[in-house]
Amino acid sequence: MSLSEVVQRSMASGSWVRRMFDEGAALKKRYGDENVFDLSLGNPIIEPPAEFQAELVKVASENPPGIHRYMANAGYAETRAAVARQLALDTGVSFAPDDIVMTCGAAGALNVVLKTLLNPGDEVIIFAPYFVEYIHYIKNHQGSHKIVPAGENFLPDLAAFKSAINPKTKAVIINSPNNPSGVVYSQQLLQDIGEILRQKEAEYGTNIYLISDEAYRKIIYDGLEFPSPLHHHPRTIVVTSHSKDLALPGERIGYIAAHPDGNPHQELMDGLIFCNRILGFVNAPALMQRLVQHLQATTVSIEWYQRKRDFLYRNLSSMGYNLIKPQGAFYMFPRTPIEDDIAFVKELQALRVLTVPGRGFGMPGYCRISYCVDDRTIEGALTGLSAMAEKYRLEPNP
Ligand SMILES: Cc1ncc(COP(=O)(O)O)c(C=O)c1O
Repeated sequence: MSLSEVVQRSMASGSWVRRMFDEGAALKKRYGDENVFDLSLGNPIIEPPAEFQAELVKVASENPPGIHRYMANAGYAETRAAVARQLALDTGVSFAPDDIVMTCGAAGALNVVLKTLLNPGDEVIIFAPYFVEYIHYIKNHQGSHKIVPAGENFLPDLAAFKSAINPKTKAVIINSPNNPSGVVYSQQLLQDIGEILRQKEAEYGTNIYLISDEAYRKIIYDGLEFPSPLHHHPRTIVVTSHSKDLALPGERIGYIAAHPDGNPHQELMDGLIFCNRILGFVNAPALMQRLVQHLQATTVSIEWYQRKRDFLYRNLSSMGYNLIKPQGAFYMFPRTPIEDDIAFVKELQALRVLTVPGRGFGMPGYCRISYCVDDRTIEGALTGLSAMAEKYRLEPNP
């Protein structure tokens, strides 16, 4: 075998989302797309906002010379200025264009940040339930991941967090609104995390970075304002993208924003720009940078998602599923009525409803349901979900 051992092992451990995708594709082939209710993927069916199309047409018709050339590795100055301006407005932190690096999505951003920070064997803390790609990304850059279990309501267990930190801890990744639970971290929780980090930095004489994965920052419900970790730890690095807020996951456009007070700042920025280059991204897609420059205050319809959340939450709760109401993102994470989440997901699959076992996110005993799909798919899935609730005698809540 000529593949690297690390890659072979990682591929063998697989991704549950990927596995469900493959099994779902086989089911769809057999029964027809319309007869399989796929709630397994985080690939929104919503189209980008009309403003995106208008900008696209504008750039295409103006066709300014040089728009397809190489540029500075950090991205266009105008785009970074627009990002910094909006971020400063949203958070009250005085971001400047030079605090921003445009990236190939949040995934590209995470890899750039980890490449920049990690020495071999450095530890990165992640909280269950987590986006499983973090583990691969950390491994990509020779780091080692440490998982902190969830406390109440899928929020971090702070005592466990505190004892997980040691002199090798280089970074902590948080993800709010969270994939897969939909929870949003409160100001108080972020303040507690920041205090723990500062205390441990002082104890060990180290710098610990807080990497805030904000891929779902703008998909937040009930008028809630996004609580930003930037106020609680100066060594915070925001990574995000327009995959979800502008529904552009295939276009690979996102950014890194490093807190201007996070000493040493210039060294960090230089490192991030260098790593964007040497990881082979070189720069974020040129055309997309031009478009999102004018779309920083635009999002897809949050009401569209909120309506789906309300519908699904109401139905699952009334069937007796044990779940918490998501405050953001577009996933629900109910307890499975039996301990074995894989067995449950497989039974649901036999009813042509596709979900992802919780162990794919470090939490067996749950399953992830994605509702960034059309109403027909959600409605169609209810039959299977209801049959399972009855089979396992969940207590209906009228
Ligand atoms: C929590 C989380 N972080 C990062 C990403 C990667 O997003 P992008 O498409 O911007 O790379 C995803 C994608 O689903 C995600 O769910």
